[in-house]
Amino acid sequence: MTAKAKHLDLWQVSKTYQSAQGPVEAVSDVTMSIEEGDFVSILGPSGCGKSTLMMMLAGLESITDGVVVERGRQVTGPREDVGLIFQDATLLPWLSVLDNVLFPVKILKKPRNEYLRRAHDLLAMVGLSKFENHRPSQLSGGMRQRVSICRALILDPPLLMMDEPFSALDAITRDEMNLALLDIWQKNPKTGVFITHSIREAVLLSDRVLVMGGRPSKVVCDIKIPFGRPRPDDIAESPEFNKLCGELKQYIQSGHKHMEEVST
Ligand SMILES: Nc1ncnc2c1ncn2[C@@H]1O[C@H](COP(=O)(O)OP(=O)(O)O)[C@@H](O)[C@H]1O
Ligand SMILES: [Mg+2]
Repeated sequence: MTAKAKHLDLWQVSKTYQSAQGPVEAVSDVTMSIEEGDFVSILGPSGCGKSTLMMMLAGLESITDGVVVERGRQVTGPREDVGLIFQDATLLPWLSVLDNVLFPVKILKKPRNEYLRRAHDLLAMVGLSKFENHRPSQLSGGMRQRVSICRALILDPPLLMMDEPFSALDAITRDEMNLALLDIWQKNPKTGVFITHSIREAVLLSDRVLVMGGRPSKVVCDIKIPFGRPRPDDIAESPEFNKLCGELKQYIQSGHKHMEEVST
């Protein structure tokens, strides 16, 4: 079996913020690799440095120590080949759904005509063809987040990073979005970094799950998810799925315990 190429390589990556109260060590000494085409979730309690780690991988936050390498090139700042999705869809309220999807094309001064077909196709893929001319205020939260997924995919970036993209949605919409994302990945495979608080969401979507914990935070657990793709809709009811979720819950609780010990 041939080894997959590495998409991201982190070597002893740390981040210390300087705040009015003094230095805050958010991430400590993370060394790991993410392979091309893998969907990797990062789980961990609030404040353990997940967003900080993602922003450093995206080149949007400086690194205090260590090195991040993407496809053989050191990451030193923001770049075009990463799609980002956040908890809030952050759509521009005065633009139509279609123009929101095409916004990166406009910002980067690329020819709109070349991307129009892709924008229509992406909106069809997430079931929003009929809403292309609507404004974001006319959409539900789940629909707005679908638009932000299309916007992140419009330039077909090889790497997509998502920071708790479904946390603000109700449980039913969240389940729908999980299935939509599985489907998108099936049709449009790429490397994914997905931050979530939900163990079940991480196991359902990922090829690999990392757990962060402690303070300053490290990767305390790295689990390969053994389910192939496409994944059956009822996979979350299988005993193997629930066993994995139980194991991950234990790791996360030990991370919490460590944080309590350090802060008391
Ligand atoms: N700009 C900042 N300045 C100072 N401290 C920060 C800043 N951003 C985050 N932190 C601190 O760094 C730690 C990790 O934050 P964050 O990466 O947002 O965690 P998570 O995404 O896991 O909730 C927290 O203690 C947080 O308060
Ligand atoms: Mg966060």
